[in-house]
Amino acid sequence: MSASTLQKSAAPRPQFHILADAATVAEAVAGHVARALAAKPQLTLGLATGSTFVPVYAALARRHRENGLSFAQATTFNLDEYVGLPADHPSSYRTFMRTHLFGPVELPQGHGFLPGVEADIARACAAYEAEIARHGGLDLQLLGIGRNGHIGFNEPFSSFDSRTRQVELAASTRKANAAEFPAGEAVPPCAVTMGVATILDARQIVLVATGQAKAQALASAFTAAADPACPASALQAHPHVTVYCDEAAAAGLADRQAGG
Ligand code: F6R
Repeated sequence: MSASTLQKSAAPRPQFHILADAATVAEAVAGHVARALAAKPQLTLGLATGSTFVPVYAALARRHRENGLSFAQATTFNLDEYVGLPADHPSSYRTFMRTHLFGPVELPQGHGFLPGVEADIARACAAYEAEIARHGGLDLQLLGIGRNGHIGFNEPFSSFDSRTRQVELAASTRKANAAEFPAGEAVPPCAVTMGVATILDARQIVLVATGQAKAQALASAFTAAADPACPASALQAHPHVTVYCDEAAAAGLADRQAGG
């Protein structure tokens, strides 16, 4: 697809920051979050997990330690969690968040929400949507992107109208995430995820993609018409999306522009 086609195809267009490498991307995303917190200390912040966010959260933790970046008044809502893992399982997203963000930035107890995965899941999903609404909706949602174009755990062909619900993980997602699990332990087949519509309700979205393995998904999301085959392409309809990616992940974007 030519650069001019790309420009015409997506309106409103996300703002792209194409940076040298993952470390630079992490600093830029941390800066974005820090500015949002400065503008609104009571920020309602949507969070993602996964390897892309390890350096992002490390950068936020450093700003907390060294510059006094405060999460004291913020409330956070994670995108997703595996079904069937106890909260203290080493590979649960609850453990991930405690380790990489909640502990290091001293998020106050009770300010960090993840989707409920115990007992009555349908009820927990409805309660999660209600809790987000009770906090006035999400001010800023951070997203990674799966190699298959998923956002949260909204796998290909998820409805753009979907809400928080239990989903089956794609075989490719379970394979991609196997490295996060102890050797010999299978990735759970199901998860609970915010829906595509839940994500699109956020007032502002930041999508982060690093590494060559994300190039195709990023290109599908923004250089072709929106299609549930690539859930991230739903973001084309959102008025305030910023994409932070490195050169490797940007390889498939026709009108890439370095710097940012
Ligand atoms: C995780 C999540 C997923 C990941 C995506 C990329 O909370 O929502 O959509 O962002 O699978 O994962 P990594 O960063 O591990 O490549």
